Amino acid sequence: MNSALETASSGSKDGIGRPTMPARRVAVLTGNGTLFAGFTFARFRHALAAMDSSVIAIGAIVGGHPAGLALGTCRKGEGAELLSVAVAPAVRRSGIGLALIETWREEATRRGSAVMIARYTDTNTGSAAFEALVRRAAWSEPVEDGLMVTGRAGAMADVVGAWRAIGGRLAQPGLYEYAPVELTDADRARIANYLAQPVAVDMLGPAALSDRTSPAFSTLIRREGVLVGWVLASEMADHSIRYEEAFLDPVYWHSGIAIGAYHHCYARQACLLGRDSIATYYTNSTRPRMVALTRRRFAPIADRIDTILAVRSTGRATTPDSLNRKGKPHEHRRA
Ligand SMILES: CC(C)(COP(=O)(O)OP(=O)(O)OC[C@H]1O[C@@H](n2cnc3c(N)ncnc32)[C@H](O)[C@@H]1OP(=O)(O)O)[C@@H](O)C(=O)NCCC(=O)NCCS
Repeated sequence: MNSALETASSGSKDGIGRPTMPARRVAVLTGNGTLFAGFTFARFRHALAAMDSSVIAIGAIVGGHPAGLALGTCRKGEGAELLSVAVAPAVRRSGIGLALIETWREEATRRGSAVMIARYTDTNTGSAAFEALVRRAAWSEPVEDGLMVTGRAGAMADVVGAWRAIGGRLAQPGLYEYAPVELTDADRARIANYLAQPVAVDMLGPAALSDRTSPAFSTLIRREGVLVGWVLASEMADHSIRYEEAFLDPVYWHSGIAIGAYHHCYARQACLLGRDSIATYYTNSTRPRMVALTRRRFAPIADRIDTILAVRSTGRATTPDSLNRKGKPHEHRRA
């Protein structure tokens, strides 16, 4: 690990200066943070190997050993997202988790984020502790944020392929094309125009997502050569494919075109990675049509559909007595 310790260490001593409690500290990690990889989910571990400016990793060190991690991202234009927080079981309930998320929040603020979000499912073991922790740190109460669908590429392709709506598209070969994600200047201008519309709220588009888009599993939707939509996917560290974003010009809604695009991508995934390869997609609560469609169409074939909850924080300090500032674990109990 090559970590820049930006915070002071704590620990306590008895009357004649002998340590009675291992020194504890939390630190902003930089460089290679893989010593802390055991404190996050497998799918996020690659982010610790070579941390770029989009990664915010805060490590907890107790007695010289890694003892916890708060990991998240902070991307320009997207705000900050806390992806995971975990503390070694032996040192839980001593203020480390709180110190981790407070330091993570401070670091996100320092890097320009005004709002931080954390998404989770209430079916995860640990969600109750996590909710109690963020409540303690004065984050918002949880709200439903969307649905996460996990299924198999082959079954997903079969389901969308069997939709009646898709027949309309298949009856018009040549009119629509599912094209590689290669953007012309005209495409970029159209994308910017689409992203400015309310229907595309919170979307990032093919240009901004290009660094994490996996071309083999993504497509642009063209109508007579003109870009009218996209389906963008990325390959996760566990080789599952996450469908990140889909957009279609509202003029062409109800034409089966978007379904056709998904069919195209799922079928290609099934072909390249196998029918049983995992495909996930997330649908946001702000898109009720998609949520309803997901429940109706995908629930019968999905491996699982998780309700995603979100908590949010502003950049304001809420617990001024976290681990490093006063140096005494549990001091926050007396606040
Ligand atoms: C969630 C977790 C990170 C909390 O870490 P921690 O170091 O124990 O948290 P803290 O000691 O800083 O707790 C601060 C406050 O949060 C609340 N809290 C934390 N864990 C709690 C729990 N298990 N039950 C109830 N409240 C809890 C309490 O208000 C606590 O203050 P208190 O001890 O004075 O009552 C830890 O339980 C953990 O690693 N869990 C497993 C991983 C996980 O599930 N992470 C969440 C999903 S990514």
